Formats: sequence, structure tokens, C-alpha cells
Amino acid sequence: MLKRLIAAVAGASLALAALSACGSGGDSASGSGSGKLVLGFSQVGAESGWRTANTKDIQEAAKAAGVDLKFSDAQQKQENQIAAIRSFIKQKVDVIAFSPVVVTGWDAVLKEAKAADIPVVLTDRAVDSDASLYVTFLGSDFVEEGKKAGDWLVGEYKDAKEPVNIVQLEGTVGAAPAIDRKKGFEQAIAANPNLKVIASQSGDFTRAKGKEVMQALLKAHKDIDVLFAHNDDMGLGAMQAIQEAGLTPGKDIKIVTVDAVKDGMQALADGKFNFIVECNPLLGGQLMDTAKKVKAGETVAKRIVTVETVFDQAKAKEALPTRKY
Ligand code: AHR
Repeated sequence: MLKRLIAAVAGASLALAALSACGSGGDSASGSGSGKLVLGFSQVGAESGWRTANTKDIQEAAKAAGVDLKFSDAQQKQENQIAAIRSFIKQKVDVIAFSPVVVTGWDAVLKEAKAADIPVVLTDRAVDSDASLYVTFLGSDFVEEGKKAGDWLVGEYKDAKEPVNIVQLEGTVGAAPAIDRKKGFEQAIAANPNLKVIASQSGDFTRAKGKEVMQALLKAHKDIDVLFAHNDDMGLGAMQAIQEAGLTPGKDIKIVTVDAVKDGMQALADGKFNFIVECNPLLGGQLMDTAKKVKAGETVAKRIVTVETVFDQAKAKEALPTRKY
């Protein structure tokens, strides 16, 4: 009997030791225990050069700011993001931040975070939930980005007397940048009735899908003048498809994209792309500042818009040597 009691006590101590070894990752922990702010961050995935730069910047900024970052990669799946957010709530992190893969379907988990009294910061992408469910949204104005792309085309084809056939490679279906860039672009090109979108399909923000969809579009349409791709990666994949079809990107088919990551900027400097609208992935510093303010109970702006520019071929050549991502 005594032996069994000793064995039971030893087992219980082992279980306790294992739990405390989990630190702030354990279910029952609250905060990091080190006085550091604990930030749970759910990233979309690693679908593009932009996303890789964004992840690196957030991780480096957390280190520099002394923030204990719990990072989770959702591999472009909403269910993974919801599971990660639920795990952050269980871990009682101080602040939750995430870049929502799609716009809809967040109400339930955001209400759970609110009930647990954990503030939520949206980074990069918006949701369609009630604004009372998050503290702030930090990121680009995607409608404006699409508009800038469209405005450039309107200027480029101001003297066109014949239809200009445009194909559009959209981002992930249901994602804020895909919805908003399409909207802004189509609003802007409406200024010139000669500018016509003859096909528009999703390339899921990846290079491989961009190439695959462009191959199909090139087979279906012999008269494409312009490609508008919602990001550099899809534009780069499509550029390969155009070359493999025996056409010259940047000349036979003009290419306009969004992001301005190094590979895209190189294609622009080489004359294979024609125009890039910048989407800045360096959100880490602002995110850490915002999380600290929120934790300290300070008021933050409900919307923090990222400052961005545009690049033509000459500007890309100038900017490339010092481009950070
Ligand atoms: O949400 C930002 C977008 O997501 C970037 O334009 C794109 O490259 C990424 O995958």
C-alpha cells in the first residue's frame, strides 16, 4: 500500500515538472513569467516573397523589442489560424495578432478572445467582423494599391484607339488584398473604355499557380496586351509562361504587379515587368509598438495605414541596390 502511494506521488510530481517545463506554452500558464509581453501571432503561410519578408521582419522586431513571440504558420488554411488563436487564448497570451487568410468567418473566435479579455491586433489584412472585436488594423490600403496599378495603365494607354486586352491574376479567393486590389484596379481603368479585362482568375498568390493559370490564359486568348497580377510572385510565374510561349514579357505583354520584393524589382529593372505598386511587408516594428501600447492600456488608432510608393523601370534600377527584401 505504502509502495503504491509513493509511486503515485512520484508520478504526480513528474507530471507537474513536465507542465512547468512548457512555460508560457503550457495550457495553464499566464504570460511568459519573465515580465516580457507575450504576443501570439498567426501568420498566413509562406506563399510569397512578401510573406517571407513579413515573417522575418516580425520575428526580428520581436527580438529587438524584447517581446516573447509565439509564432504559428497557418499554411494558408483558415482552420489552422482559428486553432492557433484558440491555443493563444488557452495560453493566456497578453496580445493576439494575426494576418487573416480570408475576410470572413472570424466572429466566433474573435468573440472568444474578447471574452478572455485578450486584445486582438489585425496585421496586413482585414476581416469583415464587427470592429469592436479587434483593437486596431495595421496594414496597407489594398483598394488604393489596385487603383495605383489601374491609374498607371490609364496613363500608359491614354492615346489608345483600339481595345487593350487585360488579363488579371487575382490573389487567394476571399482574401482582402484579392478583393480590394481587383476593386481598385477595375474602378481606375473604367476611366478609359478601351481598357478591357478579358479574363480574371485566382493564382492564389503563388509563383507556381501564377505560371499555371497564365499558361491556360495564353492558350485561350491569343491577343493579351497586359497582365495585372495581384502580387510579384504570380507575375514572375506568369512571366515564365509568357517566355515559354515565345513572347517577350514587358513588350509583347506588359506586366503590372503589386509588392516590390527583390525578385519583382529585378524583373522590373530588367525590362520584363513594366510597373510595380509597393506593398510594404515591414510591419514588425509598428506591430511591437502597438502591442506594447495596447498592453499598457494606451489608446491606439483604429486603423494604421502603411506608407507606400510605386516603381517604374528607372526607379527600380535606383532602388534595387539598397532594397531590404
Ligand atoms: O496580404 C499581402 C499580400 O499577401 C501580398 O501582396 C502577397 O504577396 C501576399 O501573399
